[in-house]
Parts: sequence; C-alpha cells; structure tokens
Amino acid sequence: MTDECASCSGHINKGFLRIMDMLPEDIIGRDIMRFFCTDSLNLFHDYYREALVTGNPVRFDSLHAATAFTIFLSGWCIPRYVDGAFNGIICTFTDISEQYTTKVKLSESETRFRSIAETATDGIITVNKSGEIIFWNRAATFIFGYTGHEVLGKNIFCIMPENIMNDHGKIFAAPEKSYTNDAIGRTVEGRAKRKNGTIFPIEISLASWKIVSDIYFTAIIRDITHRKHIEKSLQHSEQELKNLSSRLLNAHEQERKRLAYELHDGLGQILSAAKIGVKTMLDGKKKQKVSDRKPSADNLLAVIQSAIDEVRRISRDLRPSILDDLGIIAAINSFCIDFERVNSPITVSRAIEARDEDIPEQIKIVLYRITQEACTNIVRHSHADRVTVKLSSVSGAIQLSIHDNGTGFDVQAIQAIKESGRGLGLSSMKERVEFSGGVFTLTSLPEQGTTVQALWPQARTAT
Ligand SMILES: Nc1ncnc2c1ncn2[C@@H]1O[C@H](COP(=O)(O)OP(=O)(O)OP(=O)(O)O)[C@@H](O)[C@H]1O
Ligand SMILES: [Mg+2]
Repeated sequence: MTDECASCSGHINKGFLRIMDMLPEDIIGRDIMRFFCTDSLNLFHDYYREALVTGNPVRFDSLHAATAFTIFLSGWCIPRYVDGAFNGIICTFTDISEQYTTKVKLSESETRFRSIAETATDGIITVNKSGEIIFWNRAATFIFGYTGHEVLGKNIFCIMPENIMNDHGKIFAAPEKSYTNDAIGRTVEGRAKRKNGTIFPIEISLASWKIVSDIYFTAIIRDITHRKHIEKSLQHSEQELKNLSSRLLNAHEQERKRLAYELHDGLGQILSAAKIGVKTMLDGKKKQKVSDRKPSADNLLAVIQSAIDEVRRISRDLRPSILDDLGIIAAINSFCIDFERVNSPITVSRAIEARDEDIPEQIKIVLYRITQEACTNIVRHSHADRVTVKLSSVSGAIQLSIHDNGTGFDVQAIQAIKESGRGLGLSSMKERVEFSGGVFTLTSLPEQGTTVQALWPQARTAT
C-alpha cells in the first residue's frame, strides 16, 4: 500500500517481495515509482494519478519492473477509503513475464510471416475449417482482383467456383472433410476465377495445420496464364519446325529430282546429239571431202554451245555466280532485266537505293531468292503487267519490297490450307527471312495486287 506521495507503507505482502526479490527494508518508505524502468515509469505514474484523482481502480498491464531480471507486471491501482476518507492506494502486481515474452515472440513471428506473405509474388490465402477466407495477401489481390477487405470472411467459392474446381479446390473449399487428403504438400495445376469473371490457369500448393481441434488450410497460388501461353506457342512452333523440316527434306528431294531431269532431259539429250554428230562425222570421214564435212561440224558446234549454255543455266539456278562476281545489286538488276525480257508484257520498275557494302553477306542470297520466288509467283499466279522492285538501306536497316498490280489473293485462305497441300514458295521466303534475323510481311488484296516485304531492322548485327 502507498500514500498520496506514492511512498510504500508497511503493508507489503510476501508475494510482492518474492516477485521483486527484495526484503521489506528495501521497499518500505521508498517511492513505488522507483521499482519501474524508465520506459514504464511514466505509464505507471499516469495510472497511479488516475486512481488518485478519480478514486476508481485503474488497471495496468505489461509494465517493465526495475529488477536484476527482466520482469513484466500487470495489476491494479485501487484507492482505499476508511470512513469515507482517503487512506492510500493498494497496488496489486502479477508477474506476467512468461506470457509477455510469449506474446512478444508471437507478435514478432506474425510480423515476420506477414512481411514475407505480403512481399511474396504468389497469392497466399488461408481458410478456416468452413472454407472461409481468413488471410489474403497482396499478391492474391493482384492475381484475383479482390482486395482483402472484399474477400475476408467469404467462402473460397468466390475464387474457385465448384464447376471449375479440381480436387485441390474441393479440399480447399471443405477442409474439414479432407484433412488427410494426399493432395496436401503437392503442387498441382487447376483453374480459378478472377473478380471480373475470367477463368484462368493456376498452380496451387496446399498446406494444412491445426490449432487445438481447428483445421486451417493455406494455399500458395500462382497465376500461370503467361506460362501456359508460352508453353502453347512453344508446342506450336515445335510442330511448325517439325513440319518445316519434313517439307524441307521433301523440297531437297524434289530439287534433286528436278536436277536429275534437267541433266537427263537437257544436258543428256544435247550430249547424245553431239555424240551422234561426232560418230556420223567419223563414219563418213574417209569418203567425205573436208568442205563437205563443214556443215556437220557447224551443227556440232551449235550443239556443244547449247550444252555450255545449259550447264550455265543450271549452275546459275543453283548459285547465281553474278552474286559472287558483281554483287547483289548487279544480280538483282540483271535478274529484273532478264525477267522483263522473258515475260513481256510485264514491265519491271526498279528503285535500288542500297550499296553492296551495306548488305551483310548472309542476307545477299536471301534477297536474291526472295526476288526470284516473288517474281516467279507473279508470272505464275498474278496476271500482273507491272512489277516494282525496291531495295533500300537506311540507318543500318535493309528493306526489300516487291509489288505487283495483279489479281491478288486471300492470304489467310492460302495459309489455312494444310501444309502438305500448298506450295512451298511463301513459307520458304518467310523462313529464309526470319532465319536471317529479318521480318517477312505479305500483303495482298483482291484486284489490288500483292506486296512481298522483307525487313532487317538491324542488318549490321544480323547473324
Ligand atoms: N503474286 C501473287 N499473286 C497472286 N497469287 C499469288 C501470288 N503469290 C502467291 N500467290 C498465291 O499463293 C499460293 C502459294 O504460293 P507459293 O509460292 O507458296 O506456292 P506455289 O507458287 O503455288 O508453289 P511453289 O512456290 O511451291 O512452286 C499460290 O498458289 C497462289 O495462289
Ligand atoms: Mg511459288
């Protein structure tokens, strides 16, 4: 018990002496404020004054005592009156050091958990045994579109409706029934619903825990929309690659066959004719005068010349030598001139604004092949009478565009045809351009012609 000045009187029980580990003479007559550490002293002082002024009991909690050990106290300041007159203040004390330490540790660990949960990029959601949401982190808000305020206390069905739920979702929605389910601890894929109603793919891992007899489930949820998208396009391009390589093999085979026919039907026939001519000359040489043999020799010369022309034609098709001898600009110019001559009445306008040295080696052959294929398509399919070939090099970017004023065609309809049933030219142009680091564009409109475009935005760094 203390007086108005907070000095301890003789009424001190053994419990207080034990808590403070002191003797009565250490306490009697001394200011009770001295038994509190500075951080708690002012607080105790306020409670004490309040009891004194109001005459009512005032409770205090978790105050730090000034003892050799760390002790936390809670208790009451109770004003005492005798015959209506103030007689002093009875202070009761309970040592709550153990509960206090546990409370502090609990609060620290909760702060730690919250800070981890709030900075996590995966959604972390906890439900109680009825499937009601009791924890919802920031990432969950980002993924689902609901704020914690909107979903806390609601059933998990709001993000996992029954019709899209997989087994994990079911456990999550009714944990009580499935506490022992083997899905716990595993990560599986499923689907969930956002606030705006869209259904999207998720990856979900479940953990369960019990406090006394209550079961809680925590789910870590990852939005895998982007991953699924990438997986799908990867599968698609893998399939495309497979198709392409089998078509390329096929094209190689066709090319060999074509070459074999050309050698057989062209060069082979010419050489046979030459052989027959030589044989005829040899057979008749004894009887014939030199002047009589001249016409046969002239014929033979013409046959040999056509053999030379044929070899040139075939080898130019395989690798245009003009590309190596004179460069890509001359090669394209020469191709356009020949194309116009052979395919009259088609006229070809050229706008070549690039120099050989601007164009990296590996792009040169691509430019040539695109020009060849696009022009071949024009002759075969377009009924055009005007073609424009443009080649430019501006700030490291190279652009080739070939336009015709022909019938045009439905690009999507052609692309929709099964690969085995359509030509190879368009996809081969696209592949060549993309493989060399460029972008291929094909635009065609009925009656407005077709434009084939290849662009290398940074040709200098192209591989
Ligand atoms: N310039 C064009 N004008 C009109 N139609 C075109 C033109 N270029 C292509 N096409 C259409 O697109 C189709 C596909 O062309 P692609 O070059 O891929 O194959 P192809 O020319 O038929 O055969 P390949 O090139 O394999 O010998 C053509 O069959 C034609 O219908
Ligand atoms: Mg073609």
